[in-house]
Amino acid sequence: MTGDIPEDIHVPKLPFIKSYDVRKDALSLDLAVSSADLENKVPDRILKLIEEKIQASAYGGKGEHWELVFASPQKSRSFSSDPTEEMVKRNWIRHGAARGQWIHGPQSVQLIRAFEQIVLEKIIKPLGFAEMIFPKLTPWEVWMRSGHAKGVYPEIYYVCTPKTRDPAFWEDIGDYFKVTGEVPVEMIREKIDGPIGGLCYAQCPSFWPFVQGETLGTASLPIKVFDRSGTAHRYESGGIHGIERVDEFHRIEIVWLGTAEQTVAMADKLYEAYHAVFEEILELEWRCARVTPWFMAQEGMVDTCKTPQKIKEGTCGCGERVGTTDYEAYLPYSDSWLEFQNVSINGDKYPKGFNVKIQSGADCWSGCSGIGLERWTAAFLAQKGLDRDGWPDTMKKLVGEPNEIFRFM
Ligand code: SER
Ligand code: ZN
Repeated sequence: MTGDIPEDIHVPKLPFIKSYDVRKDALSLDLAVSSADLENKVPDRILKLIEEKIQASAYGGKGEHWELVFASPQKSRSFSSDPTEEMVKRNWIRHGAARGQWIHGPQSVQLIRAFEQIVLEKIIKPLGFAEMIFPKLTPWEVWMRSGHAKGVYPEIYYVCTPKTRDPAFWEDIGDYFKVTGEVPVEMIREKIDGPIGGLCYAQCPSFWPFVQGETLGTASLPIKVFDRSGTAHRYESGGIHGIERVDEFHRIEIVWLGTAEQTVAMADKLYEAYHAVFEEILELEWRCARVTPWFMAQEGMVDTCKTPQKIKEGTCGCGERVGTTDYEAYLPYSDSWLEFQNVSINGDKYPKGFNVKIQSGADCWSGCSGIGLERWTAAFLAQKGLDRDGWPDTMKKLVGEPNEIFRFM
């Protein structure tokens, strides 16, 4: 490899690279590759990877793109506490036994179900989305096609399977617990296979095997579906905070696919519908911004495509409308903004990855929108407080009186 080779070049640690040598304008690699690796273009991919790493380090911390699209007027600010602390005080929620996990009591669930109701009545039904159930264990096969296999590893909750389900093979584990009261994690490690993948991370990738390898009839387009069948999990490490930054969360994920025009048109309808909900029903102080596409962020890629700038210059090859719009709500207690949902036009990434075509032969595009229910709760309560008196009428009605069934003595 020749050209400008930066001094701090990061040569990947891979079994194929035996050694390397960097000089001012040349990098030479000593590769150990089989003929199968050659056929699989491993050397080409190594060079491409090194180029990507050089590019990424040149961009440094500038990688995250953020460009304001809309900001609502400032709303009256009557509450300034951390809503999670208030919810805990009132026993609406309590910490779960696992890290970054909450047990939602009836009062919290009343709120979450009210939000779901609003999303169903104002967005999902009028726009014609049909409910599906997406799997919540994601195998490598899906993440290889979705692109997550490129970089999601630090945030995965990994899933393993037993080497065998023969009770005799496992007897010593149970016995160990019986005599010590401890679960012998190291002993268990010896008895499991995998990981075979991880717990649901981005929600929509697990939909795609349903249409994988298919050609979709024109009359069925755009296809519009949604999932609200379970939790998503991310290892947030030190980032955990309140109910808004957790390792286990609930989200409604909306997915649509069709021609590029259909996909963009549906995103436009969603922008409008969300706008109406946040302004007229929830009366939130919110804003939205074009950001690094979620799939790039989740693949660990920096946003080297400065889309809006490049569109102006007419040089962006990724298509004007591909990208993610984040919705953020103002949190008075911390004077900061919380991302509480997104809308994305994902271009042909998913149809390509899962080999989905459409009858007309035109490019198939898709979009998705993730509605974070804990995040909606955090945003709403941070702005409106926990007392119903201060809430907009629809929410007052939908939530009803908080159901206080626990009396802790
Ligand atoms: N799948 C998208 C994401 O993970 C939207 O929910 O952000
Ligand atoms: Zn999605």
